[in-house]
Amino acid sequence: MYVLGIETSCDETAAAVVKDGREILSNVVSSSLKFHQKYGGVVPEIAFRLQLEAITQVADTSIKEAGVNLKKIGLVSVTSGPGLLGSLVVGISFAKATALSLGIPLLGIDHLYSHIYAGLLSAEKVLPAVALVVSGGHTSLFYLEDFDKIKLLGATLDDAGGEAFDKVAKILGLGYPGGPFVERMAQKGNPKRIKFSCSETKNPLDFSFSGIKTAVLYQVTKSPPRLRSGQASHQVTSKADIAASFQETVIDTLIKKSLLACRLKKSKNLVVGGGVTVNKRLREKFTEAAKREGLKIYFPKNKLCLDNAAMVAGLGYQLFRKGYRSSQDLNVELG
Ligand code: KG4
Ligand code: ZN
Repeated sequence: MYVLGIETSCDETAAAVVKDGREILSNVVSSSLKFHQKYGGVVPEIAFRLQLEAITQVADTSIKEAGVNLKKIGLVSVTSGPGLLGSLVVGISFAKATALSLGIPLLGIDHLYSHIYAGLLSAEKVLPAVALVVSGGHTSLFYLEDFDKIKLLGATLDDAGGEAFDKVAKILGLGYPGGPFVERMAQKGNPKRIKFSCSETKNPLDFSFSGIKTAVLYQVTKSPPRLRSGQASHQVTSKADIAASFQETVIDTLIKKSLLACRLKKSKNLVVGGGVTVNKRLREKFTEAAKREGLKIYFPKNKLCLDNAAMVAGLGYQLFRKGYRSSQDLNVELG
């Protein structure tokens, strides 16, 4: 079965065609990132206007690239939330119109669950599993008995993991989105130089990243003025040490809580997804930790970590097979 996936939850406009929930025939992503960069974050009004302009062409391209006749598409699967209201409305409206005009079913998909599925696109018989989603908007731990039996174990109480990377990049005067900049800077630093920590949470499976972000801010403001404004050679080293120490602490916290969730749920499988999982250090450390604990770990391929529609089409197929459908009343679910 061929499924057309549509994803517009944040600043990307994405469409993909996936066969039988596994084989990606096309995966087109158009990002409005460069229009947000000067604001240091996604501007919802800009995002949805550009998505409105891009959606038809992105979907057309994904059908052409897949080489599939439109009549062969059996389902339109679309992100229905959580995400930015206007952006989600663009994708949902397009998906509804497409399903209606082709006379095929429509299915709304949870954005976080699709990030989990990104790690399972090329893996079979993994469930039950614990799943961590760490992205720009969310950081949550789940227990998956099946694709339609997902329980939330814990979530961030303040900033999301990716958001913390973005804010720390801003404090350090790096670019947006911050994750890749912090990662690059961290490669030159000593991750043990500064002792950061993430705040404790009442539910040990919840997360809190706002404290460490503030600790980074203090670290920068109490440092010699050269670190804040000048170009002296040791500036690079100090910024690098802050970036490396911050990154290490966040990764260690994500690992500690994911392993705890696996122990509590007696799970031998761990799926990790979301934009932050592009991070090489995160992948290395998670892989080592999983090996030590005797767990099997599943990551999305790099290009499937960030927002994309292949994961939406893939999960759509799995849920459709279980009998799930949405009506033309499908609406945004802000979560
Ligand atoms: O999943 P995603 O594309 O969007 C949301 O659903 O939020 O994730 C975007 C987030 C941003 O916060 C970005 O800074 C972060 O993923 N990110 C990274 C890296 N690449 C992207 N964080 C850490 N290291 C990276 N290499
Ligand atoms: Zn996302």
